[in-house]
Amino acid sequence: MDSRHKLELLIPREEIAQAISRLATEIRRDYQRKAPLLVGVLRGAFVFLADLVRELEIPLSIDFVEVESYRATTSMGVVRITHEVSLPVQGRHVLVVEDIVDTGRTTSHLLEHLRRREPASLRLCALLDKPSRREVPVTIDYLGFTVPDRFLVGYGLDMDQQYRQLPAIYALEEGDGG
Ligand code: IMP
Ligand code: MG
Repeated sequence: MDSRHKLELLIPREEIAQAISRLATEIRRDYQRKAPLLVGVLRGAFVFLADLVRELEIPLSIDFVEVESYRATTSMGVVRITHEVSLPVQGRHVLVVEDIVDTGRTTSHLLEHLRRREPASLRLCALLDKPSRREVPVTIDYLGFTVPDRFLVGYGLDMDQQYRQLPAIYALEEGDGG
């Protein structure tokens, strides 16, 4: 592990596992006979998606989408799809799987984008929600945890591409560059 940042354990791996079991129960109940298309948002959601699908035990397909947000310039963040969902979306029950909803800009842009491809239904599953930072309203249909306004890493989440491999979720210590 890189030692430049001080990390504080926020959500231990056992609690993540419990949340995933709960989410899997809800999703299984709602999608039992719908053969949903799960769309993981790269790169942060890859760990969450991998753990979630192994608990679902229903027929489903998996695809990925990559989204980039540029928020260097003041208020308006620009969101761009850099890797499209390759499988057909039209008529499918699509469940987007996100690591974290922060300002909501990335997710709301992505949901609008997918809605134009006419899925039979479109819902959102997010491991983490940081509601204190919301700028654009987003409905999270399946949520793991509500988290405070701190910069988080681990379990797929990165700080400059580091720490994604950590098995739990950590907060960067204040004043540590997060
Ligand atoms: P939003 O568009 O502001 O909602 O940002 C969503 C994206 O920003 C997420 O999918 C993450 O990739 C990234 N992000 C937001 N907060 C954090 C964090 O605390 N740690 C790591 N990445 C984050
Ligand atoms: Mg992300």
